Amino acid sequence: MVTERLKDISYAIRDIAVIADELKKTGKEVYNLNIGDPVKYDFLTPQYISQALADATFAGQNFYVDSLGVPELREEVCNYEQSKNSIDITPNDILITSGVTEGLFFLLAGLLENKNEILVPGPSYPIYITYSKFFDGIPVEYELDEKNNWEPDIDDIRKKISNKTKAILINSPNNPTGVLYNLKNIKQIIDLAGEYNIPIISDGNI
Ligand SMILES: Cc1ncc(COP(=O)(O)O)c(C=O)c1O
Repeated sequence: MVTERLKDISYAIRDIAVIADELKKTGKEVYNLNIGDPVKYDFLTPQYISQALADATFAGQNFYVDSLGVPELREEVCNYEQSKNSIDITPNDILITSGVTEGLFFLLAGLLENKNEILVPGPSYPIYITYSKFFDGIPVEYELDEKNNWEPDIDDIRKKISNKTKAILINSPNNPTGVLYNLKNIKQIIDLAGEYNIPIISDGNI
């Protein structure tokens, strides 16, 4: 028996690995393209990164850090955002997470409950749907238009905003389409979010 919360939860890119393993056992040759795993396919982590990690461990630097993340790193992220994107923030506005997945977990935990809605792209990276449901929210898919190079359909986003919408999630470069959204469309989504006072969650680099 599992909780109500977990009953509807699935995670396509992981679930398919189980089926692939079964096929492999029958002797079929299977290429697992469900997860981008560069190290497995000969794109090794650059030596200086592995070395820095090992050196830090030997120097006893592998202890718990501030809850918000290593202060020097937060400072650097802040400097980067200020100089590259002219964003007016301080290191206190920055939280370092163990990757995007953990960041999304925190954000959606804080935004969703009681069947509130989040606008996510369709097709979509599966974790957006999984976590939204996990936190008792409803992921509402807005259309990525195949005929328009898979760009987000701005009118569709507008149509799907309701008084339950708690966030608009954008993902560029996009998984699974690979498309980097056109700046004009991103600006339109930002304007729309401003008009309705809805936060944007950006997974990617816009
Ligand atoms: C769009 C997108 N978001 C998030 C992730 C997961 O990111 P992380 O490994 O940093 O948790 C992936 C991984 O493929 C992804 O494609």
